[in-house]
Amino acid sequence: MITSTQLDGVALVVGSGSGIGREAAFSLAEAGAKTVVFADKNEDTAKASSEESRKYASNKDYQTTTFTMNVQDAQSIQDMVDFVVKEFGRLDYAVNAAGVDNGVHAPVAEIDIDNFDRIININTRGNLLCVRAQVAAMRKQEPKTWTSRNGTRDIGRGAIVNLASANSFAGLPGKGCYTISKHASMGITKMAGLDHASEGIRVNAVCPTWVRTPLLDVEIKKNPEVQGMISAIVPIKRAAECEEVSDTITFLCSPAASYINGASLLVDAAITTTVRLF
Ligand SMILES: NC(=O)c1ccc[n+]([C@@H]2O[C@H](COP(=O)([O-])OP(=O)(O)OC[C@H]3O[C@@H](n4cnc5c(N)ncnc54)[C@H](O)[C@@H]3O)[C@@H](O)[C@H]2O)c1
Repeated sequence: MITSTQLDGVALVVGSGSGIGREAAFSLAEAGAKTVVFADKNEDTAKASSEESRKYASNKDYQTTTFTMNVQDAQSIQDMVDFVVKEFGRLDYAVNAAGVDNGVHAPVAEIDIDNFDRIININTRGNLLCVRAQVAAMRKQEPKTWTSRNGTRDIGRGAIVNLASANSFAGLPGKGCYTISKHASMGITKMAGLDHASEGIRVNAVCPTWVRTPLLDVEIKKNPEVQGMISAIVPIKRAAECEEVSDTITFLCSPAASYINGASLLVDAAITTTVRLF
């Protein structure tokens, strides 16, 4: 075990009622986070996930709660961050996993601009609003240090991880709205990491390709061709397990990643290194 992947602070996971966000919250609890706040627009799934996290938490003082919000509503994002700081004293790790891909496929010439606005509103504007509120809270708190075999180093005031995508690096035919929104997530990550590095705030992104979320299972059931596509395009021949992404998120939050900032880390089994589509 790499001891510096252990955590002990306060975590907020936006979009933790399902899929990658839910698993990220579980991984953070497992790695030792003292508090995990499950934020989502779906109150029921957030509550169920929050309760389930108690099974995995390793911190003896573990506490968890939920916050119902919508990334399309700037005030609800601010209220969420204010709630975390008021209730738990600080915000050490923030993961932004709320995002959508509504499955609409169209070449650029035929993009429905209302659909574009909808996707950008959640995936891009929502991401920026979350990062803005989280950074603003983190910059006010005291920095932390980490002591390892070679002494003590500054690990800053907080770490943020955005859910971008392999589509932050490459396109897929017909997936313009989603691809553009995920390129923007990479831009948000770079700018926030750059602007706030001197204040001890790290901002990174994980960029997965297909991940085995309940949503993907449903899609494959509806359209078995997707499974064939994954086998044909992904060099490892399978989708990623959620845990393979959530553990990467936890690593990026941890002291082990204290020099990684503004990075968009591909978790894609090398799919973006190949031009072989079928
Ligand atoms: N699943 C994949 O294959 C995959 C691949 C690459 C990137 N991603 C990205 O990872 C993130 C999570 O995807 P997932 O597959 O786990 O999705 P998911 O649908 O399983 O979970 C998304 C969660 O976000 C919440 N959410 C959606 N809109 C919201 C809003 N407006 N406000 C607050 N909460 C909201 C949902 O209620 C849900 O709990 C997304 O940003 C997605 O683009 C997913």
